[in-house]
Amino acid sequence: MIFESVQPGVPDPMYNLKKRADSDLSPSKVDLGVGIYRNEQGAYQELQCVKEAKQVLAKIDLGHDYELTTGNPGFLKEASGIMFGQGGVSPAKGSCHRTSLRASNLTNWPVQLASVQTISGSGAVHLAALFISRCISPYIKVFVGVPTWGNYKPALDLVGLQTIEYRHYDPSTRSYDHDSTILAIKEAPEGSAFIFQGCCHNPTGADPTPEQWSEIVDALKVGRHLPLFDLAYQGLGQGLDEDAYAVSLCARRRLEFLACQSLSKNFALYGERCGSLHVICKDSRAAANVHDQLRCLIRWEMSSTPAYGSRLVKLVLQDGHMNADW
Ligand SMILES: Cc1ncc(COP(=O)(O)O)c(C=O)c1O
Repeated sequence: MIFESVQPGVPDPMYNLKKRADSDLSPSKVDLGVGIYRNEQGAYQELQCVKEAKQVLAKIDLGHDYELTTGNPGFLKEASGIMFGQGGVSPAKGSCHRTSLRASNLTNWPVQLASVQTISGSGAVHLAALFISRCISPYIKVFVGVPTWGNYKPALDLVGLQTIEYRHYDPSTRSYDHDSTILAIKEAPEGSAFIFQGCCHNPTGADPTPEQWSEIVDALKVGRHLPLFDLAYQGLGQGLDEDAYAVSLCARRRLEFLACQSLSKNFALYGERCGSLHVICKDSRAAANVHDQLRCLIRWEMSSTPAYGSRLVKLVLQDGHMNADW
């Protein structure tokens, strides 16, 4: 008897809700559980640019080889462009021109940035936590404003990091609680880590204003804290650039930080598990070492990441027409 003593896992409200929603046959059912878009018929809606990229990919037929351990380099270049502005488009003008709106934030950015592909945003958060625990310190306290996405604490527990919760949201005003956030940052032990959602806060929808982000970043700098940004919904809030405002600000103010990126949501490639982790370092030597450590962690845990979604994203972002459509 080896498995007799295994107890049931911790219940996951999202897992149970999805199962119940899927089996509910009501014609007027609206599934507000998982953070995904649905069309008017309540069904999955593929983006036109993804449809086109699939046809292109089928024509070039790259086969099904493994990706590099650290991911598809072309995809990572485009993904970091979306996050940091080097290769992003300006959606407000509907233009397909690449903009360097935020490029000046990072001088020599490619050498200071350690970017790897991950199993979507969840995998990026996990890898970031694992990296902090293994390569920075297992004793770093990680501060998380609550209520928040239910996966942070389990992800931190999994790698032995301690989670400290503070109040992110004031239910009486139904808004982001800035005073409590600043107090948590000021009172945290020097060198703590703070998880922030850069935009579209899940589950409250309450994000800091640019002025509030500025105060947050100042306080983080004073406390020598390590920000860990989670951008699961970039482009689904105010716009690509606006949604990455806090990330840009940290880069401009020369903080070292980590940024988790989901491309599964903003490309509607949910099941393809497409994402990346970027670590912003002070110099190229640190970036090279961080990248090398991430290579090890990925290799030991999963060898490499899924190829299909990242190939599609790369194709869309590298093509003027598909990029503009996206
Ligand atoms: C705040 C937040 N972070 C990360 C994720 C991870 O998303 P995915 O792993 O699908 O990219 C989600 C998904 O719901 C989320 O809401």
